[in-house]
Order: sequence, then C-alpha cells, then structure tokens
Amino acid sequence: MSDATKLYAQNGDPGFPRIVLPEIPNLAQMETYESNGGYAALKRALEMDPAAVTDVVKKSGLRGRGGAAFPTGLKWTFMPKGNEKPKYLAINADESEPGSFKDRQILEFNPHQLIEGILIASYAMGIKAAYIYIRGEYYKWYKILEKAVEEAYSRKYVGENIAGSNFSVDVYVHRGAGAYICGEESGLMESLEGKRGYPRVKPPFPAQNGLWGNPTTINNVETIANVPAIIWNGAEWFAKIGAEKHPGTLLYGVSGHVNRPGVFELPSGTLLTDLIYKYAGGVIGDKKIKMVIPGGSSMPPLRGDQLEGVKMDAESLKGVGSAIGTGGVIVMDEDTNLTKVLLRITKFYWDESCGQCTPCREGTGWMKKILQRMYDGGGKAEDLDLLVRVANNIEGNTICALGDAAAWPVKFTIQRFRKELEEELASQERSAAA
Ligand SMILES: Cc1cc2nc3c(=O)[nH]c(=O)nc-3n(C[C@H](O)[C@H](O)[C@H](O)COP(=O)(O)O)c2cc1C
Repeated sequence: MSDATKLYAQNGDPGFPRIVLPEIPNLAQMETYESNGGYAALKRALEMDPAAVTDVVKKSGLRGRGGAAFPTGLKWTFMPKGNEKPKYLAINADESEPGSFKDRQILEFNPHQLIEGILIASYAMGIKAAYIYIRGEYYKWYKILEKAVEEAYSRKYVGENIAGSNFSVDVYVHRGAGAYICGEESGLMESLEGKRGYPRVKPPFPAQNGLWGNPTTINNVETIANVPAIIWNGAEWFAKIGAEKHPGTLLYGVSGHVNRPGVFELPSGTLLTDLIYKYAGGVIGDKKIKMVIPGGSSMPPLRGDQLEGVKMDAESLKGVGSAIGTGGVIVMDEDTNLTKVLLRITKFYWDESCGQCTPCREGTGWMKKILQRMYDGGGKAEDLDLLVRVANNIEGNTICALGDAAAWPVKFTIQRFRKELEEELASQERSAAA
C-alpha cells in the first residue's frame, strides 16, 4: 500500500497540517494524487468493517462544514443498516451563500480527495450511488470534477468491485441551475429528483426519507474531503487539531475590505484578528473595521470593537452571539454604509426565497422595501423596530432555514449598530422636514 502521510503532512510554518488543501502542485491530476498516497486511505477503509469506519469518523469529532456544524459520524449512524432499500449519498457542492467560496478550492485543487472521501463514506454506510450536486454557475469546476470522476472510474476506484473488493458504488456529478435554495439539503434532493427545489418539511429526515423516498445522507464537500485523512491518520490525530469541540482545520474564506482576500486553511479556533491581519493582510488603507460577518452572509455580524480574542470555531462564535456557518468572513471598514449592506443582503434572500412559506416570501420583500426607502433617504425613526418585527415574524416560522438566514443579518445588525442607524434615520427625517 502506498503511503498517504505526505498528503496530510505538517506544513512547516505555523506547525499545523493542511488536510484538504495540501500544498502539492498539480494535485488535481490522478498521477500526482496517487504518487502522494492518494486512495491509500480508501484501501485501508476497505479492509475495515464498515461500522468501524463510521466509528473512526465519529470519534474524530468531525463536524459538518456546510453551515450547521452537525457531527458527521453521528449523522452517518442515522442511516438504517441492511439493504432493504437503496441508500444514497448526496454531496452538497451548491456553495451559494454570499461570502462563501471555499468548496470550489477543493473541487479545483484536490478533487480526488473529495472522491476518495465519497467512496469511504459510501462504504461505511452501504451506499451504492453517490451524487455530487454542484451549483450551475460552477461550470469550470464541474468540468474538473467530471474529469476526476472519469479518471477514478478508469482506475477502478469507482464502479464495480472497487480495488479488487466486493464493494461497488457509482458516482454521478449533477449540475444545479443556479438556485441558492437547492443548497438546503431537502431542496437539493427535490432538485436532484428533477422537481422544483422546494424544501421538505422535517421530520422525516433524509436518513429515513431522502432521495426517492430512500435513506440518504447529505454532506458538504469540505466535510467529506476530510474523511480520507481521518481514516489514514486516525481519530485521535484529527481530534487534537484546533478547537476541542470543533476539531480539524477549517477553510476560511476572507473577503471584503482586506488587502489579501482568499481561502486559508487553518486550525479551527484561529483568532479572527489573526485571520484578518496576519493572513488576509489587514484592512485596505489601514482603516478601522466597522463590521465583520464571520460565517457567510446569513450569520449574525460582529462590531469592529467585538473582535478581540474571538476564536473561529462553532462554540466560540456561539459564545459571542454569532455562528461559524461556512467560515466565510466578510470584513467591512469604517466607511461602510450599513443600510446599503443590509439592502444588498436582503435583496439576495428575497430573490432566492423559493416562495413556499408566506413569512419568508412576504417578509423578505417587506424588509427589502423598507431598506430601499431608508437607502433612498426616506427612512423614518420607527423603521428599525418595524424591520425587527418583520424579521422576528420570519425567524423560526418557515420550513427551512432560509428564513432565519434572511432575518438574522437584519435583526442583529440593528441590535449591534442601533445608535448609528438611529442617527442616520434622524438625519433623514430632519432633511425631509427642512
Ligand atoms: C438556504 C440554505 C442553503 C444552504 N446551502 C448550502 C450549500 O450551498 N452547501 C452546503 O454544504 N450546505 C448548505 N446548506 C446546509 C445544508 O442544508 C446541509 O446542512 C449541509 O449540506 C449538510 O452537510 P454537512 O453536515 O457536511 O455540513 C444550506 C442550508 C440552507 C438553509
């Protein structure tokens, strides 16, 4: 068996491993991936009992990287044992949350590790068909992925009797048509089935009633790309990296008013200020920070004066009233117009609401109208309370979490920047009265 240790090697500088984006040139090519030990973890997994594979993932503490940070191994155990019904794996490569652009790095630079993870997960759960649902706009990445899957088929890693074993699985790449709602797991399954991407009422959950009514597990690209490294190096190795309750590395995508935007693979629990100043090169023009959204546009924002000591992992962010989401950090400097930001974000959720639930369909539209009026200079003092009321009527009252995603930025920006927004509205009222 070839040795995969190099693949998940220590990166000299800060002294932590690069798990999903190793610094190896041309790793997307099968030859390079194999010569660095790729697919060795699959072979190791195939020698284990499937339940033992799930157990390793469970013990590693791996949590989903798609937004909710749900424990991955635990999710896998929800799948029924036995083969009375076909079972499916759906990989979520929809990546449509504004500020989130990390999965595409894996698709571009390390697609075979994702495929290897899919194969290991399928083996662990007794799955015979896996789908990668990729957002329609990711055409370039779709082509890369499709080529990688074809190569994996030609090397007999995918298909019948994988690597000489009696395990068989097919992998299909399926393109979405550009809808954020199809990243929500049940909307994704409806779309894969060829229907309109309307999220389903839960329960029943996908492990009971997933694709075509059969048991299904849905996992994010980054989540699954971690699996080969965990199988190769063991649960304890992984559990020791980064934050104790949310271990491993995270792909942090930093955007906005920074000198060096990009995706940085760093241990979970990295300081937010290190991310911004050390890795993303600090704020453009050395300006002060007004606001940071730490986990993609739907997560509650933090004020510039709240950033000191904040660690970037699920539990730490919860502690400061936000959430890790997809690790997409949006930095906004002192000159940022908050009304413009909220209007932009709200327009997105209004546009992407599937329209199934009245609070989301109507509420996002009303928030947009109020914010547009405020942005155009016609705001009133009572608008802030009105916005919070509309947001509260959306939050928790919809089939899927798109409603919460739309409500949170508005509600928490108003809560954390009330004074500034009140002053702006007062000045608008003064101008209107003059
Ligand atoms: C509106 C909406 C959009 C979502 N978009 C994505 C997405 O693009 N990619 C993703 O992995 N998860 C997305 N999610 C989360 C998924 O529903 C699901 O929790 C995730 O794919 C599970 O994978 P994980 O357990 O590996 O994190 C979205 C959720 C909501 C409510």
